[in-house]
Amino acid sequence: MAYYSGDLIEEVISQNDIVEVISEYVVLKKSGRNYMGLCPFHREKTPSFCVSMDKQIFKCFGCSEGGNVISFIMKIENIDFWDAVEMLAERANIDTSRFEVKTYNDKIDTHKKDLKDAIFNINRDAGLFYHNNLIELLKEDNNPVKEYIIKRKLDIKTINKFGIGYATGKVPLYDHLIKLGYTKEEILASGIIIENGNGKMYDRFYSRIIFPIFDIRDRTIAFGGRAFSSKVLDKTIPKYVNSPENDIYHKGKTLYLMNFAKREKLDNIIIVEGYMDAIALQKFGFKNAVASLGTALTENQARLIKKYTDKVIIGYDQDGAGQAATMRGLDILVNHGLNVKVLKLDHDDVKDPDEYLNKYGAERLKKCIDNAISLVEFKVSILEKDLDLENFDSKVKFLTGVSNILSKIDNNIERDMYIDKISKKYGMSPGPILKEVEKGMTKKNNNDVAIDMQSLNKKMHLITNVRKRQEQYIVALMLSKKPPIQQEIIKNIKSSDIDNEDVRKIYDFILSLMDNYDINKIDVLSKIQDEDMIKEITDIMYIDISGYEEKLLQDVLKNKKKEKLYARRDEILKRLDENISKDESEIIKYELNQIIIELSKLK
Ligand code: UTP
Ligand code: MN
Repeated sequence: MAYYSGDLIEEVISQNDIVEVISEYVVLKKSGRNYMGLCPFHREKTPSFCVSMDKQIFKCFGCSEGGNVISFIMKIENIDFWDAVEMLAERANIDTSRFEVKTYNDKIDTHKKDLKDAIFNINRDAGLFYHNNLIELLKEDNNPVKEYIIKRKLDIKTINKFGIGYATGKVPLYDHLIKLGYTKEEILASGIIIENGNGKMYDRFYSRIIFPIFDIRDRTIAFGGRAFSSKVLDKTIPKYVNSPENDIYHKGKTLYLMNFAKREKLDNIIIVEGYMDAIALQKFGFKNAVASLGTALTENQARLIKKYTDKVIIGYDQDGAGQAATMRGLDILVNHGLNVKVLKLDHDDVKDPDEYLNKYGAERLKKCIDNAISLVEFKVSILEKDLDLENFDSKVKFLTGVSNILSKIDNNIERDMYIDKISKKYGMSPGPILKEVEKGMTKKNNNDVAIDMQSLNKKMHLITNVRKRQEQYIVALMLSKKPPIQQEIIKNIKSSDIDNEDVRKIYDFILSLMDNYDINKIDVLSKIQDEDMIKEITDIMYIDISGYEEKLLQDVLKNKKKEKLYARRDEILKRLDENISKDESEIIKYELNQIIIELSKLK
């Protein structure tokens, strides 16, 4: 990996407004000078997640997670510091090469970084190995793999574009990777090779057609391997085998072929289930196709899509399982503010978009895509399918179900249009539907509890004890950008005066920063990478001390003095208990008196 100068961090922070970035993940509402939303890091019903535009930090008053835009991305994407910096650099179109340096001395987790790099490289090299295998095979005659490839209509252009390969057992992949210089540990960590009980290494994808899975930066992060020909009929062999999750592959965060789709100007994205569906769609010119690879859609995938478009068409398999999966995915997508439509194929003899394309062609599929039905229509059609609408009870059930679906629509006009449409379609009068819908809506509004910053602040105070709070003020004053106050603090407060370890660490850190920087000119938070320290400093940054700096400084100094006096008092009392000379006793008793007088003045 390239090493970057610390300036890149500042650049990334200044070019990525935290409110904008977090809005891509969390629905935020403006509340005074802050933005509030439901915390993405813990479950909650009322918002305690707060983003400060002025300070460019976030804080959850519920789970105490906090930090700047980089910490947010690290946490939510589950990636490490420099990956987050790179991701944000890409988001803001910052040319990172300007910041590359030969050496980088700050602390980073080098071991982890190296292993990750190794897995990326192993995947790349294994992918190439598989791909070359397939290219060689295609030169042979009467080869079952070749026959299968032809049957699935995978032409050479497609094979090359998507890096499709074949895992033969002829030249063992393990030996190949060892020859390239990878260690056994690295190779096993990639998950491509499995060690069996006897210490023998074998290829997880042995005898399968290989589909490399890429991340949005075109790196190969995993593979899917499909059994071919007769093997599929053998139910004991899974049709597809996939790489296990590891440091670089997180299934729920990936969408297959998103790296290709994102290169286009996207009006919408089509999400399909399988490798072959996404490939076929792309091959036929639907460059906006991605696959969720047979698993339920996740929040992370919804966020990923949201970065590129607001509109999604779900093109899942047309069977019951596919429809159930569609249902599950819908709400997640809608909750992330995506406009969702569902693809209905106009022929029943094909199961998925791949089969449809090969049988009926791209033009007809395009028509289906243009006619994709809305979410509401889809839900209503599912509801209808299981019910016999001639039957009275079923009709009541249907009506209730429909009302329930409609009450979730926020837009009034849209809602009325559906009531009209559905009542006409099913020959029902709109009145009762409307009534039911309204009932459902009042319920929903009551759940929208107002955001109350004051009660949040109170909560915050309760979890921080008084003593610690006092010490946090010391750091808050150091961050106040008021040099005379900062000088007073440095003069009077030693690091060892601070009891709370977390606060002390921050104080030490700020002092050490002052050796190299003018702390009033830099973004102190951006210099910290330790998670606990980030939490602590954001806590402190949320304490609003502006206008009270002088008074707080006096308080802090007074408390400091009091503490010293108390300590000395206790020492003297202890000494007096011991067997000491009369002279000494007189002297320290005098001192004790002075201390008591001083203390009473300080009260
Ligand atoms: P499908 O069974 O719909 O297969 O699974 P498909 O994509 O249409 O594949 P072909 O056309 O038969 O080749 C959809 C997706 O579910 C995952 C795969 O990602 C697959 O593309 N899957 C399916 C597995 O991971 N393992 C399996 O055994 C089956
Ligand atoms: Mn298929």
